[in-house]
Amino acid sequence: MTDLFEGAITMSTSSSNHPHPADPHASHAHSHAHAAPTTASANPTVMERLRDSTTDHHTAAEQHPFQKSLAMGTLPREQYVANLGQLLHVHRALESALRAAALADATDPAVKAAITRVVKDYQHQEAYLIADLKFFGVDPETVAPLAATAKFVSHVQSLAARAPIALLGMQYVLEGSNNGSKFLSKIVLRAYGLEPGDGTRYMDPYGARQREYWAAFKADMNAQTFTAEQIDQMVEAARWTFEAIEKIGGEIQAGQH
Ligand code: HEM
Repeated sequence: MTDLFEGAITMSTSSSNHPHPADPHASHAHSHAHAAPTTASANPTVMERLRDSTTDHHTAAEQHPFQKSLAMGTLPREQYVANLGQLLHVHRALESALRAAALADATDPAVKAAITRVVKDYQHQEAYLIADLKFFGVDPETVAPLAATAKFVSHVQSLAARAPIALLGMQYVLEGSNNGSKFLSKIVLRAYGLEPGDGTRYMDPYGARQREYWAAFKADMNAQTFTAEQIDQMVEAARWTFEAIEKIGGEIQAGQH
C-alpha cells in the first residue's frame, strides 16, 4: 500500500466540517455514549446524515479486494475495463431515472424541485464511460449486465416508481466516489501505462474542479428541505448503492464478466 493511498484513506475518514481526530475509528465514536468528540451533531444536515450513515460502508468499500487491487495498481486491466462496462449500466439507469423524475408530471413538485436543483448536467457520467470503453476498444453497447448490475438497474426503476427522492441517495454515493476516484485514476494511469486522460475520464471527470463540484453538491443538497422520511429513504438507498457497487466488483473478480 502506498503512502499516498494511506493518505487518501485518512482523508476519507476525516472529511468533516467539524474537526475530529485522524483516527479512522473516530467517525464511529458517536455510537458509544461515552465517546467524544463526535461527528454527529444534534441537528445534522442531510449531507452529514448521509456521510455518517455510510461511514462503515465506505470503509468496507475501501477494503473490498476489488478496490484494494485498484488502489495498489494490481487490478488486471481487463477487470478495470469490465467494471467500466458495468458502471455504464449503473449510470445510464440512474441518470435517465433522475432526468425522467425531474420532468414527469407524476413526480411530487417538491421532489422534482430538489432533483432539478441538485443534479447538474455535468454530473452525468454516461458519456465519459462510453469514451473510456471506446478507448479500450470495447463497443459500449455490447456489454451485458452482470447479475448485481441488473439488480441495481431494477432497484433504480423500483425507487423511481415509489420514492424518486431516494435516487438522490444513489447520486450521493456515485458523485461522492469521484473524490477517491480522482486519486485512484493516477494509479490506473501508471498501472496500465496510459497517458493522462486515457481511459480515465470517468474516474476523474471534473479535473481541477473536483473540490468545487463536490462542495456545490453538498451545498445544494443541504439547501433543500427534506422530510425525515425522505432523508431516511436517501440514506437507505445510499447504503444499498455502496453494497451494490461492491457486489459488482466481486462478480467481476469472480470472473463472471
Ligand atoms: C480504494 C477505494 C477508495 C478510496 C481510496 C476512496 C477515497 C475517498 C476519499 C479520499 C474521500 C474524501 C474526499 C474529501 O472529503 O475530500 C472519499 C469520499 C467519498 N467516497 Fe470514497 N474512496 C474509495 C472507494 C469508494 C467507493 C467504491 C465508493 C462508492 C461506491 C466511494 C464513495 C465515496 C463517497 C460517497 C464519498 C463522500 C463522503 C462524504 O460524504 O464526505 N468511495 N473517498
